[in-house]
Amino acid sequence: MNPDNILRQTIEAVRPVGHYIRAQRGQLSEADITDKSRNNLVSFVDREAEKKLVRALREIVPSAGFLTEEKTITTEDRALRWVVDPLDGTTNYVYGLPIYAVSVALVNGKDKLIGVIYVPEWDELFYAARGQGAFLNGKPIRVSDRCDLAQALAATGFPYYEFRHEACYMRMFEHYMHTTRGIRRLGAAAVDLAYVACGRFDFYFEFDLHPWDVAAGLLLVEEAGGKTSNFDGSGDALSGEEILASNGLLHDQLLSPI
Ligand code: IPD
Ligand code: CA
Ligand code: CA
Repeated sequence: MNPDNILRQTIEAVRPVGHYIRAQRGQLSEADITDKSRNNLVSFVDREAEKKLVRALREIVPSAGFLTEEKTITTEDRALRWVVDPLDGTTNYVYGLPIYAVSVALVNGKDKLIGVIYVPEWDELFYAARGQGAFLNGKPIRVSDRCDLAQALAATGFPYYEFRHEACYMRMFEHYMHTTRGIRRLGAAAVDLAYVACGRFDFYFEFDLHPWDVAAGLLLVEEAGGKTSNFDGSGDALSGEEILASNGLLHDQLLSPI
């Protein structure tokens, strides 16, 4: 397995799928959109995009399994697997907001090897391979160098279908509302993480996501010089249950804020 080749081929697999998603934006009607569960929308675009990705990715590393949001394929039993969110930010997408992304990672157990996030509306392609830095459209990216929380711009995702952590989330939200420059909610976790990686956000926090929302973005942040963990720093964020991603300089002061 040559990581450079895998990364190059993964980028070649992801980009056309982003173009497909963008091209379909005007074609969607209400009848195409269904609720998988409460506030969890899906359309044929998510599923078609996933199928296209799976077809291309299985050629790149035939021995790798898949963990994909839309479950068009299930081979989760292998340690080496692709972790795929074909369309992160579906609610934005179906409401006509241009903030959404394709997110693909290759992981081996808990090790993130490759991460690619493509934001089609702005033609921004973020990518990283373990140990080789992070890039945006071919140029190296770094996290921000802000170390004063009062100057930090934060990103988050609000709870919208799972409310068991609502009280805790609201306390964190209130704390950061009072101690930072401000908080943004873009509606696409992959974009939030890519933006931490390139320094547009200083940190990002969210509860109750899934590996496909975060795998590629966590590698991007780490390869761009940042830190990722759960909220008290005792574990990693790959499960998606608790995600704290920062420029690294702020990380210790962000742990267990309340
Ligand atoms: C969602 C987005 C959103 C986050 C959600 C995710 P989806 O992914 O990343 O920002 O708050 O929890 O589920 O469903 O659009 O792929
Ligand atoms: Ca997602
Ligand atoms: Ca999705």
